[in-house]
Amino acid sequence: MGRPISIEISTHKKKKPLENERGFGIHFSDHMFIMDYSEGQGWHDPRIIPYQPISLDPAAKVFHYGQTIFEGLKAYKTGDGRVLLFRPQKNMERLNRSNDRLGVPHIDEEIALEALKALIAVDQDWIPEESGHSLYIRPYVIATQPALGVDASTDYKFMIIMSPVGNYYPEGVNPVKIYVENEYVRAVRGGIGEAKTAGNYAASLKAQEIAKEKGYSQVLWLDGVHRKYVEEVGSMNVFFKINGTVYTPALSGSILNGITRSSIIQLLQEWNVPVEERVISIEELFAAAKSGELEEAFGTGTAAVISPIGELNWRDEKAVIGGGVTGEISSKLYVTLTGIQRGLVPDPFGWMVEV
Ligand code: COI
Repeated sequence: MGRPISIEISTHKKKKPLENERGFGIHFSDHMFIMDYSEGQGWHDPRIIPYQPISLDPAAKVFHYGQTIFEGLKAYKTGDGRVLLFRPQKNMERLNRSNDRLGVPHIDEEIALEALKALIAVDQDWIPEESGHSLYIRPYVIATQPALGVDASTDYKFMIIMSPVGNYYPEGVNPVKIYVENEYVRAVRGGIGEAKTAGNYAASLKAQEIAKEKGYSQVLWLDGVHRKYVEEVGSMNVFFKINGTVYTPALSGSILNGITRSSIIQLLQEWNVPVEERVISIEELFAAAKSGELEEAFGTGTAAVISPIGELNWRDEKAVIGGGVTGEISSKLYVTLTGIQRGLVPDPFGWMVEV
């Protein structure tokens, strides 16, 4: 990077949304971070500036070929006024794994983390204090070279924006209804499913809209080759408790390696709850749901943390899971994880990083 982050403080303080106005990712804090990349110079000019529109050439590669990656993490304020981040190094490591897959030059993880902390320090009065609320942080990279040839861009911008958020789903931690998607797939092995990049989310929108029209919150994605094995739910990793063991699909290359996912596996191991990463077929899952052996199911991700699943629809047949109410393990995981994140319960793994 070569030189320290320059900071230009905004002269205009935006009005902050009230608790019931927050929603998810619709209001943004007063400042943003930008750093540029150009061939020869590498990453340069790290700066915090007032939140504002950016100007790009209409030929910028991101618009045409989707060369872009992003991350998502949250900052929390504790009762005694400390600001905590949940495993931010993991986001920075994944940012570079996504960069690798999309042909984007690496970003020094220490510098990215330093930028993130500096931005949070400037806008720390934007961190909501109510339970279930936090400051969602969105680091991302876009390809800015104005050229239509299909090759990796020579120029990029790394930016960080932040948004005070409430629950991701209107249902909160109440169970959602899920539609098993048979026609469309989100990603295939060898593709970009493992990377946190725009194309995976764009690929998910049509199926999600159809499911919504049918009265379902999200879709359950099956693998793109056999259309048989469960992969993710909506934009989250997914877990199932069947006869006392918790299963989650093994990472296959088309599944996002979620930080919440790996934290949940660690917590379950710590509690001596049997947990396994393995392939799970939809036939097996649906039979377990029908027989009542599927005791709990839930999605996990940064945005929603834990989102219980109360009903599955597969080929227009329905199965209610766990009586349609939030299960014991889902509740315990939600309370423990959000408690660690807000500094309310001990953090046995040293996950939290103070800003
Ligand atoms: C997450 O919860 O981790 C996500 O990636 C959701 C985000 C795309 C809104």
